[in-house]
Amino acid sequence: MKKILCIGAGYVGGPTMAVLADHCKDYQITVVDISEERIASWNSDNLPIYEPGLDEVVKRVRGRNLFFSTDISGGLQEADIVFVAINTPTKTFGEGAGRGADLQYWEQTARSIFQHATKPEVIVVEKSTLPVRAATAMARILHVGNPTTHFEVVSNPEFLAEGTAIRDLENPDRVLVGGRDNESGRKACEQIADLYAHWVPREKILLTNVWSSELSKLFANAMLAQRISSINSITALCEKTGADISEVSKAIGMDQRIGPNFLQASIGFGGSCFRKDILHLAYLCEHYHLPEVAKYWESVVKMNEYQINRFFKNILANQFNTMAYKKITIFGFAFKPDTGDTRDSPALPICQKLLAEQARICVHDPKALENAKKDLAHFKGDISYEEDPYKAVEGAHSIAVITHWRDYRELDYQRIFDLMEKPAFIFDGRNCLDHQSLFEIGFNVFPLGKPHLTHFK
Ligand code: UDX
Ligand code: UDX
Repeated sequence: MKKILCIGAGYVGGPTMAVLADHCKDYQITVVDISEERIASWNSDNLPIYEPGLDEVVKRVRGRNLFFSTDISGGLQEADIVFVAINTPTKTFGEGAGRGADLQYWEQTARSIFQHATKPEVIVVEKSTLPVRAATAMARILHVGNPTTHFEVVSNPEFLAEGTAIRDLENPDRVLVGGRDNESGRKACEQIADLYAHWVPREKILLTNVWSSELSKLFANAMLAQRISSINSITALCEKTGADISEVSKAIGMDQRIGPNFLQASIGFGGSCFRKDILHLAYLCEHYHLPEVAKYWESVVKMNEYQINRFFKNILANQFNTMAYKKITIFGFAFKPDTGDTRDSPALPICQKLLAEQARICVHDPKALENAKKDLAHFKGDISYEEDPYKAVEGAHSIAVITHWRDYRELDYQRIFDLMEKPAFIFDGRNCLDHQSLFEIGFNVFPLGKPHLTHFK
């Protein structure tokens, strides 16, 4: 039985290995992490991340051919294939601070693989999103001296989205495997492709060179984010001209060349990948003396910041330019529904700006309250957290919808209106509520890219 080790038991490593173990009963898979707490949680009934369908898969495979452990060196000694799914945050210091990738953990992991691996042939798989040519650095570290192990580095980026991770893994649009263009590289790619072929049709498994694979991942995220920034930029124009962004989005999405997905106007994109990956891409372009290309992609991030700021300014301007001591209820802190993940969520800058205006904030989220508490721990001001949405709105002057949880569409808004101060305001940062019926109840409603519905003369 071949052995797979995955380093990094996060949002990517955990679900990916669970699905792999489910389909590849002929492999023994161990997921390791430096965090003892995370591993303990993976071994408990209370998994460290919320992801629909994940509990069921983990229950089926844990202890059968999927194991979670903190013994990284022990795992490396036995591994034939090592997936690396550690986080690659943006650098916060020195050259490239705030833009380039911080590769220190990546390099440490490479050194650790080099030190502890014992099998004659080991395939190292890049799962984490990395700057293009990161595989070279990995290979150089692995080939120092005269090791008894032959290492082959393969890029196999992950395209799963949080909230739909299990579905995306079960039924991927494509699986990308990039390797060196020689016999050993091709053989390694085939082995990785064979793993996925346990359940993914062969025609969906693309074999490319390493650099194409690395770049495709960065570029896929940049393209997705660019669509969101594009539609969001037009919400501002809709509000000025009387056009309706939902109508515009539908009209352009029906053009087969454009397509309907990822055209949902929003307060802005969040998540651990989009902003980080675009900044990495831009930094990479600068590194290769392509400043015009770098600026083009950076503008996608700038537009996202503009949209978040615009949403905040709208809240302020429409509440008579003062938020001091007013209560505002934040509906949703996660960066998207069906996850407890709050990394880079627009909720954080919105709360920060509201606190600076001395507003009183009450945060509600069905799954992300614990992370919200951690994110807001260092901010001063009047912040409270509520698990019951009706309690959260008691005495509030306004509600800001940041995450389009289905729950928010199903609430009793007459009851909510009765619990709030008047005039009552709703700022829908996701255009997910029924604006006309809210208006008829008595709310002043502020959607994105659509006419405002207010009772003021
Ligand atoms: C993602 C993707 O892997 C990556 O492509 C993207 O660039 C950002 O993050 P994700 O799974 O979402 O990773 O990150 P996270 O949930 O933070 O998990 C990473 C795990 O790696 C953590 O549990 C961390 O403790 C672990 N880790 C990190 C190690 O085990 N060793 C290290 O040296 C560093
Ligand atoms: C993304 C990519 O989709 C995935 O392929 C990659 O592996 C990791 O990054 P993720 O960040 O988990 O996945 O979620 P995604 O569904 O892409 O949403 C990202 C952000 O964009 C969210 O804040 C979401 O609310 C926002 N979004 C998405 C919009 O504002 N409008 C849309 O139309 C779609």
